[in-house]
Amino acid sequence: MGVIETHGLTKRYGSITALNDLDVTVGEGVTGLVGANGAGKSTLIKILLGLVPATSGTATVLDHDVATQGSAIRALVGYMPEHDCLPADVSANDLVLHMGQMSGLPYAAARERTSDVLRHVGLAEERYRPMGGYSTGMKQRAKLAQALVHDPRLVLLDEPTNGLDPASRDDMLALVQRIGGDFGIAVLVTSHLLGELERVSDNVVVLDGGQMLQSSATTEFMHATGSLIVEVHGRSDADRALGQALIDAGLVARPMPGGLIEVEVRDAGTSDVVRDLTVDLGLGLVRLQERHHRIEDVFREGGAGSVQPV
Ligand SMILES: Nc1ncnc2c1ncn2[C@@H]1O[C@H](COP(=O)(O)OP(=O)(O)OP(=O)(O)O)[C@@H](O)[C@H]1O
Ligand SMILES: [Mg+2]
Repeated sequence: MGVIETHGLTKRYGSITALNDLDVTVGEGVTGLVGANGAGKSTLIKILLGLVPATSGTATVLDHDVATQGSAIRALVGYMPEHDCLPADVSANDLVLHMGQMSGLPYAAARERTSDVLRHVGLAEERYRPMGGYSTGMKQRAKLAQALVHDPRLVLLDEPTNGLDPASRDDMLALVQRIGGDFGIAVLVTSHLLGELERVSDNVVVLDGGQMLQSSATTEFMHATGSLIVEVHGRSDADRALGQALIDAGLVARPMPGGLIEVEVRDAGTSDVVRDLTVDLGLGLVRLQERHHRIEDVFREGGAGSVQPV
């Protein structure tokens, strides 16, 4: 039995179909839920919490039926909502303490947990300041802390990296990974960037227009979609020469706009092959990087329909 299971889950808002006949199973560890804007990620999370009723189909969370056991689910699950929802005149300390007590912890235990989780998320002295004066990064940390205070079995994190700069994104992703790994809490985390979830997720589920496009272990996923972007210089036909050499070496390579070459990753040695061939041709390597998968890449490869810009 999965931590989360849905069968034929469908949600319509008038003429809009937000979720369309979705069958998803989510297990232990960290699961990334990826999809473009409007794919249905937040709708799925709200249904799983029992906050929004499905139009048809069924779903269970930790063996509880979302249609009838919403409050039991919310006692076992932590939720980090997508949008800013923090009261401006309350400190993170007071909010998290209050949420702990609301979840049934006695005052002393709630205080202890509050101090622990705020430390884990990296809110230091500022935890005593009103949250209205927090930066986006601090707000995201406060939202995460309140989702963890009651020691949940599962957390649903809706776009925890939204609005964060690259360094804060990395910190947040490391935290997400630690929640799933060190703390043993099952995690469902959403993003529209596949690249960032690949790094921290054991499994990835891709939604497109309310339907499941792909669900697999992250390792399989990277194998299926991983590629490198290569840029070389040295002579006018440098990109064509290297492209041909890569193909001769049995790799799949194709030209991209701007003289770049995209090379499909075959195994851990692929980047070494690129480097060696570049040297053999007497060329200079300007760029060799893993392609940062945006969700569009998967849609292109999956051949799915409408893709909205992210
Ligand atoms: N309360 C609502 N009323 C009407 N339509 C809604 C409502 N909530 C969601 N929708 C629609 O359902 C679809 C899915 O929305 P949802 O918010 O679940 O997407 P999402 O994947 O979370 O997108 P984002 O990345 O922008 O957060 C969208 O077309 C949206 O407009
Ligand atoms: Mg959303």
